[in-house]
Amino acid sequence: MSDRPVLWILGGGGHGLVVADAARASARFEAIVFFDDAAERGSQRGAWPVLGGSGDFAREVPPHVERIVAIGDNARRDQLLQACLERGARVATVVHPAASVSPGARLGRGSFVAAGAVVAIGAEVGAGGIINHGASVDHECVLGRAVHVSPGARLGGGVRVGDRSWVGIAAAVRHAVTIGADVVVGAGAVVVADVSDNMRLVGNPARPLPPQRHA
Ligand SMILES: CC(C)(COP(=O)(O)OP(=O)(O)OC[C@H]1O[C@@H](n2cnc3c(N)ncnc32)[C@H](O)[C@@H]1OP(=O)(O)O)[C@@H](O)C(=O)NCCC(=O)NCCS
Repeated sequence: MSDRPVLWILGGGGHGLVVADAARASARFEAIVFFDDAAERGSQRGAWPVLGGSGDFAREVPPHVERIVAIGDNARRDQLLQACLERGARVATVVHPAASVSPGARLGRGSFVAAGAVVAIGAEVGAGGIINHGASVDHECVLGRAVHVSPGARLGGGVRVGDRSWVGIAAAVRHAVTIGADVVVGAGAVVVADVSDNMRLVGNPARPLPPQRHA
């Protein structure tokens, strides 16, 4: 019998599929299965079966099961992952073999690094972080919990990003900039100055979206 763990993935949407595909490529798991409240039990997502919903995902399991929360929404992912950690569940960190993660970087529990991404020396990715396809997190960046660095986004050296913030596709953040918690950096934005909590920014140089557009 194999001593590789079985991976349970919560969330069978597009992000869940990407995580499953990376887990398959890593050859680290004996089997991969999904849990998703919106999918029918016994159905398939890609090559993998759906075994139940979030209630089934949370139940007590044998120690050879590792779990990862693969829900794109940062706040929801953070909440569900923290619940897993509080229960003492084994939580997986999944890294695609075509990603480059420095041995001098730290990846938090339940984080995911996609193909083509780079996490450089001294960088810290918090629990539940997503470093998506082709994104780069340069030296000594510090990312809080459940941060998502979208495909092709780039963080310069020493950038700090607060919990649950989302750096959009192909955005760039100048070295040593600090971004607060629950921030959204729009696709393609170029952030050159510090950003406070809860802001939404777009453009080059990045500017806040006017408040009337928040409704
Ligand atoms: C910034 C963002 C969150 C705003 O979304 P929204 O609240 O739905 O905003 P809207 O689409 O209503 O756009 C509001 C205004 O901002 C502009 N805008 C939106 N996103 C923009 C962007 N990334 N860059 C420049 N302008 C942008 C729109 O053109 C619109 O301007 P207008 O009022 O003059 O027409 C979103 O557009 C975005 O960039 N999301 C990131 C997507 C991403 O990276 N996905 C990766 C998935 S892995």
